Amino acid sequence: MHPTKHLISPHGGQLSETLATDSKLDALRREAATLPKLTLTPKQSCDLEMITIGAFSPLNGFMGSEDFARVCREMKLATTHNGHRNLVWPIPILLSVKKEQSPKVGSRLALHAPNGTLQAVMTVKEEFLHDKKLEVPSVFRTEDPAHPGVKAVMDEGDVCLAGPVESVAVCTDPDGPEAFLDHRLTPRQVRDEFHKRGWKSVCAFQTRNPIHRAHEYLCKVAQEIVDGLLIHPLVGETKPGDIPAAVRMECYQALISKYFVPSRTMLSVMPAAMRYAGPREAILHAIVRKNYGCTHFIVGRDHAGVGTYYGSYDAQNIFDEIEMDESKGGLGMTIFKFEHTHWSKAAGGMVSPKTFPKIEGDAISLSGTAVRDMLARGERPPAEFTRPEVADVLIKWARGQ
Ligand code: ADX
Repeated sequence: MHPTKHLISPHGGQLSETLATDSKLDALRREAATLPKLTLTPKQSCDLEMITIGAFSPLNGFMGSEDFARVCREMKLATTHNGHRNLVWPIPILLSVKKEQSPKVGSRLALHAPNGTLQAVMTVKEEFLHDKKLEVPSVFRTEDPAHPGVKAVMDEGDVCLAGPVESVAVCTDPDGPEAFLDHRLTPRQVRDEFHKRGWKSVCAFQTRNPIHRAHEYLCKVAQEIVDGLLIHPLVGETKPGDIPAAVRMECYQALISKYFVPSRTMLSVMPAAMRYAGPREAILHAIVRKNYGCTHFIVGRDHAGVGTYYGSYDAQNIFDEIEMDESKGGLGMTIFKFEHTHWSKAAGGMVSPKTFPKIEGDAISLSGTAVRDMLARGERPPAEFTRPEVADVLIKWARGQ
């Protein structure tokens, strides 16, 4: 029996990986050289890698118009996969192009990463109008062009191409500083590792930041309950101003080596792009982690949020609106929902409104800007906010900028 069989099933029943077998790779590359070429945006290239490795299972390519409309309106796929209907899916995965780039339906197209690497060959099954008026407010709950996810969609083309892909590459920049090849494991590889470690219940922690004490606390609370913790930072495209993935990886490694139990903790990266879609993105983040074999997922305060577009707990409450029963296309995972945690001087430890009474002036809590200013001055934030080992990595980066 394959190791993945012992673990939670992927969304839609099986991993949908699109990397061509070795015997087909050469032929695909040769064919690609004869085809019209489309250079993807960084976001599209990240999405394609997620499809390739099966992290976006059950998708085997970019979405068509029926999936697009139903995802926007109902957070469900319109298409049936392996007999699974009504699969929960919160965000369209689209290949938008300019009208003049659109090839004939039925033709084949070579998809290249922004750096020129050939990523996949796609069969164009459908072309449809990119209904941004539908997508933007339903996915982002705002149409404000200052929202980075909204802006990204508004900048995309007006025509979407849909169809299955046959991939020839996974990581498009294997020699680059953000390849993290030792940690860039596919869902299948992560599942194999869980199996080797004997983990059945695994909680994933999504992050796009260095792990501060609040993050660490959520991870530790989860570890008390499950067999293993997957620290799973997003390393695909993020907005300007977010801390670069390479710096964050250094932080994660410094922290894990000193403050986590190796046999209970695993670090791997997720090559997805951030959309900053708050609640809907929390669902996507959970589905993806289910594909990696995780049974539990942490959603804290303002998960995947940006600015003040979402309420602190919108990304938790949205899980009450979707189907959770796997037999009905639902998520089938357990969401660990955490309220706003911080260090309490009076309690001498991490607390949340659920565990310690609110006392004025008691919290050690710093804004992102305050932390940045301290780091740029070479000052460590208080150890109750950030471990010194993490602070030192961040100071080195902030001063080198
Ligand atoms: S995110 O975009 O990946 O959500 P971040 O890396 O800051 O951003 O957060 C990772 C996870 O930790 C999210 O689930 C978020 O809700 C949670 N989180 C971050 N800070 C806190 C906090 N102080 N209290 C509770 N949850 C938090």
